[in-house]
Amino acid sequence: MTPLGADLRRAMSRLAGGVVVLSTRLGTHDHAMTASAVCSVSLEPPLVLACVEVAARFHDAVLESGVLGMSILTAAQRAHADWLATPGRPVIGQLDRIPVHRAPSGVVLLDESLATLDCVTWAVHPAGDHSIVVAEVMAITLADDPEAALVYYRNRFGSLA
Ligand SMILES: Cc1cc2nc3c(=O)[nH]c(=O)nc-3n(C[C@H](O)[C@H](O)[C@H](O)COP(=O)(O)O)c2cc1C
Repeated sequence: MTPLGADLRRAMSRLAGGVVVLSTRLGTHDHAMTASAVCSVSLEPPLVLACVEVAARFHDAVLESGVLGMSILTAAQRAHADWLATPGRPVIGQLDRIPVHRAPSGVVLLDESLATLDCVTWAVHPAGDHSIVVAEVMAITLADDPEAALVYYRNRFGSLA
């Protein structure tokens, strides 16, 4: 990484943000990954985006499958975020200890999330060592009584009520 790249990583670590588990299903395998580079893009049509590192195993899976799940995490789901950000964890069985349900598109979504989005890919834009995956939201669930959110700030997890 260049010195500027390292500084950019440090600078952006100061932008506190929510934490999401991205999910997709390719063949019979569920892929999932922790992400914070996620945002809303458009309301009509309803579009969101996620920036996915090309080197991540999730990258090729989501580009090929064309389906994307987003689970916005509560502070109580921190261990799931930690696990799904662990490089080299096994893909098969990585969700065995996480309570999930299956969305209409086929992706899994994490139970007890603040909100979940079931999406299909709208466009993919190459962007350096990441791809910007723009996805159309097909279905949404919202927790009735949202708990504290999981946040990431300066490389640490915290919570925001
Ligand atoms: C809080 C947090 C946010 C992250 N955000 C992103 C992100 O937005 N995009 C991304 O590609 N990787 C992000 N990562 C890193 C991925 O989670 C990690 O590289 C990925 O799980 C590696 O999966 P793999 O071993 O299957 O390739 C984040 C990690 C953490 C801890």
